[in-house]
Amino acid sequence: MEVIILPSSKEIGALAADAIEALVRNKPNAVLGLATGSSPLPIYDELARRHDQDGLSFEEVSGFALDEYVGLPVGHYESYREVIRREFTNRVDVGAANVHGPDGSAEDIQGACESYEAAIKAAGGIDLQILGVGTNGHIGFNEPGSSLASRTRIKTLAEQTRQDNARFFDNVRQVPHHVVTQGLGTIMDARHVVLVAFGAGKADAVRDFVEGPVSASCPASVLQFHPRATIVIDEAAAAKLG
Ligand code: F6R
Repeated sequence: MEVIILPSSKEIGALAADAIEALVRNKPNAVLGLATGSSPLPIYDELARRHDQDGLSFEEVSGFALDEYVGLPVGHYESYREVIRREFTNRVDVGAANVHGPDGSAEDIQGACESYEAAIKAAGGIDLQILGVGTNGHIGFNEPGSSLASRTRIKTLAEQTRQDNARFFDNVRQVPHHVVTQGLGTIMDARHVVLVAFGAGKADAVRDFVEGPVSASCPASVLQFHPRATIVIDEAAAAKLG
């Protein structure tokens, strides 16, 4: 695990964008794993800027979303498929058919999760997975207690996560209780993971997953076993590291 501490979220976004740009220039049909929430926004802003100003093309790139709410109507403003479209793919030249997400509205959720795993495999696996981390140490929506070997499946959100995500909705009651998420085993299969975090609210989670024991109680700690995990954080998020 490589931990890089930078002064601001803008610099965090630029460093993660450097890794993505290097990958895409070297492998134009690279496969990206796409997170949502606030943390990746500086990365998407910087990639959109490089697309507009430096001609960085994503035409052959494919993207696989990390997770999706269960129970939001298709096209809901806060569904992660819409967030990824709005914040990233619509701002660059990724082909719409190349952007995939777990299907949170499938009748057969289990079958949809298996198909999602198969689609990732058929695309050749994820080259670079962007991640944020929850205040409780989750990655994707693998909440504490998740199996370290888990694959894409339905999960119940922790109450803490629903409270944390209430800011995207009118109130906490609107935050769905269930999600479909890539598992920790799925995330560990990515060839490179880049986790970004900023702000004091992430300091406990960062300390626990970087320096604590590898444990299902802190799902992000599994990244200690990843051969290529880059953790890019600001000083506030790094404040509790020893
Ligand atoms: C989002 C996701 C979550 C978030 C985490 C942090 O796709 O999988 O793990 O990365 O909840 O969210 P933010 O970045 O909003 O603090």
